[in-house]
Amino acid sequence: MSTATTHDDHHHGAPSGIMRWITTTNHKDIGTLYLWFAFINLLIGGAMAMVIRAELFQPGMQVVDPNFFNMMTTMHGLIMIFGAVMPGFVGLANWQIPMMIGAPDMALPRMNNWSFWILPFAAIMLIAPMFTGGAFLDGQGPAFGWTMYAPLSLQYDKLSFFIFAVHMLGFSSIMGAINIIATILNMRAPGMTLMKMPLFVWTWFITAFLLIAVMPVLAGAVTMLLTDKYFGTSFFAAAGGGDPVMFQHVFWFFGHPEVYIMILPAFGVVSQIIPTFARKPLFGYSSMVYATASIAFLSFIVWAHHMFTVGMPVAGELYFMYATVMIAVPTAVKVFNWMATMWRGSMTFETPMLWAIAFVFLFSLGGFTGLMMGIAPADMQYHDTYFIVAHFHYVLVTGAVFSIIAAVYYWLPKWTGHMVNETHGKIHFWWSTISVNVLFFPQHFIGLAGMPRRIPDYSVQFADWNMVSSIGGFAFGLAQVYFLFVLIKTIKGGEKATDQVWEGAEGLEWTIPSPAPYHTFETAPTVK
Ligand code: CU
Repeated sequence: MSTATTHDDHHHGAPSGIMRWITTTNHKDIGTLYLWFAFINLLIGGAMAMVIRAELFQPGMQVVDPNFFNMMTTMHGLIMIFGAVMPGFVGLANWQIPMMIGAPDMALPRMNNWSFWILPFAAIMLIAPMFTGGAFLDGQGPAFGWTMYAPLSLQYDKLSFFIFAVHMLGFSSIMGAINIIATILNMRAPGMTLMKMPLFVWTWFITAFLLIAVMPVLAGAVTMLLTDKYFGTSFFAAAGGGDPVMFQHVFWFFGHPEVYIMILPAFGVVSQIIPTFARKPLFGYSSMVYATASIAFLSFIVWAHHMFTVGMPVAGELYFMYATVMIAVPTAVKVFNWMATMWRGSMTFETPMLWAIAFVFLFSLGGFTGLMMGIAPADMQYHDTYFIVAHFHYVLVTGAVFSIIAAVYYWLPKWTGHMVNETHGKIHFWWSTISVNVLFFPQHFIGLAGMPRRIPDYSVQFADWNMVSSIGGFAFGLAQVYFLFVLIKTIKGGEKATDQVWEGAEGLEWTIPSPAPYHTFETAPTVK
C-alpha cells in the first residue's frame, strides 16, 4: 500500500510493516485504516443485501429460511451504519481536517489510534454470533432489526455479545468526536477563524457534537436492555410494569440525530467539490454554516416521527409532524446554495463532480419522500412498508455513500499522488447511478402498494417490481466490486497527480494556506 505519508513518519526506529499500522498515531495512516475498514464493511453489508435481494427476487421462500433473512436485514443495517458509513466519514475527517485547518495532526493522536482499533473488535463481537450454533451460519446472530426494539430483542439469547459490541462502537465514536472537536478548537492555523473554515470542517465539527450528545443515549438504551435481560429489571417488559414504547422513544432520541450524523459530513463533502468544478466560491457560506447548525438542532426534537403509529396523543403527532417538516427549510437552503454555486460557473464534469451532482439530485429525492412520511396521517399508510426502505436508501446510499465515493475520487490524487483514470471513474459512476435507481426507485411503488418491509415473502402482485429491484441490486453490488478495481489501480499507479490537481481549482477549498498533503503542498493559495 503506497499511502502518502509525511517524512517524519519514517524517522529512525519507527515501526514498519503491520506494527506501523497497529501503532500509528498519524492522522493520514488512521484515515487510511478507517477508509479500508469502511470499504470492507461495505462489501460485507453489501453481500448481505445481495442475499436479501436474492430471496426477494420472486415470491415464495427459496434462498434462506425466515430467521436467516431477519438476521440479514438486521446485520445489513448495523454493518452499513456503524461499519461502513460512519467509519467512512471518520476516515475522511482524519485525512482532511488537520490539513484543512493547518494542523500537523489530530489533537489527541494516541486516542485517535485507540478510536480506530476498537472498531475491528466491535465488528467481530457483532458478527461472531452468526457463526455460533450448530451448522455453519445457521442463524444465531441478531435477527431483531437494527433498531433492536424491545421486547423482541430481549428474546435473543446472545444479547450480551450484541450489547457489548454496541458499547464499543459508542466508545469509538465518542473518542473520535472528542478528538475532532479538540483539533478544530485548538489547532487551527493563525488567521483561520471559525467562519473561515472549509465547509467540510464545519459540518464535521457540528456532527461531532451530535455524536457526543447521542451515543450515550444509545448506550443507555442498550444498558437498560442488558439489565432487563440479565438483572431482573423491567424498563421495557410490560409484565413487570415496564413500557415497550419507551424503548422506541429512547432509541429514536439517538436514532434520528444518528441520521444527521451520517448526512451532515456528506453536505460538507459536496460543499467542497461543487465550487471546485464550478470554478466559483461556494454560494452562501455563512448560510451553509447556520443551516447545518439548524438541522443539527432540529434533529433532536423530531424523534417520534418514527413512531406515528404507536398511539401517541394527537397533540404529540402534530408537534412531531410540524417539527419534522421544518427541517425542509435549512435543507432547501443548502440545495439552493449548491445550485447557485453551479449557476453560471464554468463547470466541468470530472468523476468527483458527477457523484456530487448525483448526490444533490438523488438526496433531494430522498428528502422529498422524507417529507411525505413526515406528514403524520399519510405516514399511517406508509409506515413499515417498502416506501420507507426506498426513502432511507435514497438518503443513505445515493446520499451518504455517494458523497463518500465522491470524496474518495476527489481527494485520492492528493492521498496517493496518482490521478484516477477518468474513463474508469465514469464507468463506475454511470454503472452505479443507473443501477441504484433500478434498485431503489421501484421500491416506492411496491411500498405505496402495501408491501411490508423486513418480510422474506410477499404476495404475487409485488412480483414484477421486486424482480426489477433485485436486478438493479445485483448490478449495483457488482459496480462496487469494480470500484475496488479502480481503487487498487489508482493506488498502485496511474498518471502522476500534478501539484495542481483538478487544474488547481480545488484551491477554492483552502481559505488560508495550510499544510496540504505532501504531493500537492504548493497548491494552497495565498491569504486573500
Ligand atoms: Cu427521523
